[in-house]
Amino acid sequence: MGNPKKYLVTSALPYANGPLHLGHIAGAYLPADIFVRYLRIKKDDVVFVCGSDEHGAAITIKAKKEGTTPQKVVDEFHELNKLTFEKFGISFDYYDRTSAEHHHKKAQDFFTDLNNKGVFEKQEREQFYDEENKQFLADRYITGTCPKCDYDAAYGDQCEKCGSSLSPTELVNPKSTLSGNAPILKKTSHWYLPMQDHEAWLREWIESGTLDGEQLHNPKDWKNHVIGQCKSWVDGGLQSRAMTRDLDWGVKVPLTDAEGKVLYVWLDAPIGYISATNKWAELNGFDGEAMWKDKDRELVHFIGKDNIVFHCIIFPILLKLHGEYNLPKNVPANEFLNLEGDKLSTSRNWAVWLHEYMEDFPDKEDELRYVLTSILPEVKDSEFTWKDYQARINNELVAILGNFVNRALVLTHKYFEGKVPAAGADNKFVSEQIQKAYKSIDDNIKNYTFRQALIEAMNVARMGNKFLADTEPWKLIKSDVEKTGEILNTSLQIVAHLAKVIEAFLPSTSAKIFDFVGLDSKTFDISVYEALKGGSEIKKPSLLFAKIEDEQVEKQMEKLKDNKKETSAPMIEKEVVVKPNMSFDDFTRLDLKLATIKSANKIKKADRLLHLKIDVAGEFKDVVSGIAEYYTPENVIGRTVLYLANLEPRKIRGVLSQGMILMAENNKGELSFMLPEKPFESGAEVR
Ligand code: 2FM
Ligand code: ZN
Repeated sequence: MGNPKKYLVTSALPYANGPLHLGHIAGAYLPADIFVRYLRIKKDDVVFVCGSDEHGAAITIKAKKEGTTPQKVVDEFHELNKLTFEKFGISFDYYDRTSAEHHHKKAQDFFTDLNNKGVFEKQEREQFYDEENKQFLADRYITGTCPKCDYDAAYGDQCEKCGSSLSPTELVNPKSTLSGNAPILKKTSHWYLPMQDHEAWLREWIESGTLDGEQLHNPKDWKNHVIGQCKSWVDGGLQSRAMTRDLDWGVKVPLTDAEGKVLYVWLDAPIGYISATNKWAELNGFDGEAMWKDKDRELVHFIGKDNIVFHCIIFPILLKLHGEYNLPKNVPANEFLNLEGDKLSTSRNWAVWLHEYMEDFPDKEDELRYVLTSILPEVKDSEFTWKDYQARINNELVAILGNFVNRALVLTHKYFEGKVPAAGADNKFVSEQIQKAYKSIDDNIKNYTFRQALIEAMNVARMGNKFLADTEPWKLIKSDVEKTGEILNTSLQIVAHLAKVIEAFLPSTSAKIFDFVGLDSKTFDISVYEALKGGSEIKKPSLLFAKIEDEQVEKQMEKLKDNKKETSAPMIEKEVVVKPNMSFDDFTRLDLKLATIKSANKIKKADRLLHLKIDVAGEFKDVVSGIAEYYTPENVIGRTVLYLANLEPRKIRGVLSQGMILMAENNKGELSFMLPEKPFESGAEVR
């Protein structure tokens, strides 16, 4: 087992503005819990923290929409999510909340420390402002089209489709989520983090795992998609990013010239990991700060892929600037879990909510843990379906695991009055297989490949079933009681070890099996094959799992369909968008022209984008246009189009887009070119 190692494990702090769904669980919580339970079993020194992320605009938006206060919103969901995690067996050492006073203080101290070190640049810049609501718009209050993937409901800080971190002015067609209006730009001061100054060391740390000549981690241990996303971030060039916001909800900026400003939630939330550790340490007589600074303690962040940039770029910059805190040893982010062929979506209510699952399937948390672990989106997106849930429970948990344990115990009661019969001599093969399983589970868990680890654990049950099928003790009992006893002894040893190999994955089931065979998991020695001594008593088993019936699946499917909301644009009804008047002068600033499309090519990995070359009175321009869903390249070549020539050039997917092709868009989101009524030369002005 080696020397105990030290770990600090975190799961992304979930926003306390809604309940948890299976996507959250498969992303950041279940894998972390398996990892941590496993480390605890190995007697490693591990602290596992999480908490509610109670700030950020999503929460104030919800409160505003529902006519309540942000505090009421977070109180409700903090309680619900905390309880749901507990019921589901997510074994945090401490579940904190960022509205807690100790966290505010920690986040403020952290900010002050960095500010005293002179790392921020206070700058007055133009920022989006909603004139109707008289309020600067935090990034989450702005939606628009993602310049990177063309998703039309991207937020001002992030595109939830491609995971890109954005700044609001990068959005195409930005809209205020408060009024639906196009926001105006207005000046305000903020404290900026010049992220571009950190590109060199970040690149080195991400690509080779070294920092200032010290090997901090082996990049081979990191998931490819995590490294890939980080690299493309750094390669795309980092920019200065405001670490404060104009909001009245959050951690107040601890400076006298910062009235009405709070810390950016992405500065505040990750510091929540430190506050939570400190609180846990305080309650348990440890030094949390020392844990974050201990070079031998490995920091591992479990997150979903939408949070990679925050945990692999922004937070590491902050940690490094602070000076003494460790950088993460690994960030094993998961990809996304889909549901019944569609993207999970809170706004469309296309989700299986964990607290509802726990109500509909009481005491079946291990069943869900099993199914989710089997389909974790470890390296690519994966899919939950109720049919698959049913099949995995019936064909695997019931038919393999439950069946084996039940048969071994029932036969022991039937033939040997519930006492472990004496062992035979020949158990080398079985004991070797068990040791192999421990080894490969260990390798897989350390490698964050929990799906495979679970398969290896289930293989122990498969081996048990095969052993019973091959040796047929129910027939042998008629001719050879002693040999039958030896077979059952072997089967019971397998049962005992099975309880151990599944412990991190299915904790309740493991505890039940340990109880059946009268062993204590805490003192169980995995290196000893003969876990059960001849003559010891075992209990009469109850069934570990019940079959999931078709009706249960149908009911869940109906529930999903009944609750689904058919809206793809969560915040804005297109019809109600009426833009404020503009002056004639403003209008004349638009340089509108006719242009002719000369060539068109698809842009790799961007379903909606075409790279167009257009002719404007003999001059050629590059334009990236989000029309690929409606037009193939062949369809657009030769067309005369309406072109906005003086839109500030912007790099999109590596192409410098010089302006924009204007399209009409109807309520269904369909696009149409605006063609001149008769053939007209390119370059003609439009007024
Ligand atoms: O994406 C989210 O749900 C964020 N609330 C995650 C925060 S993780 C961390 F930094 F605290
Ligand atoms: Zn995007």
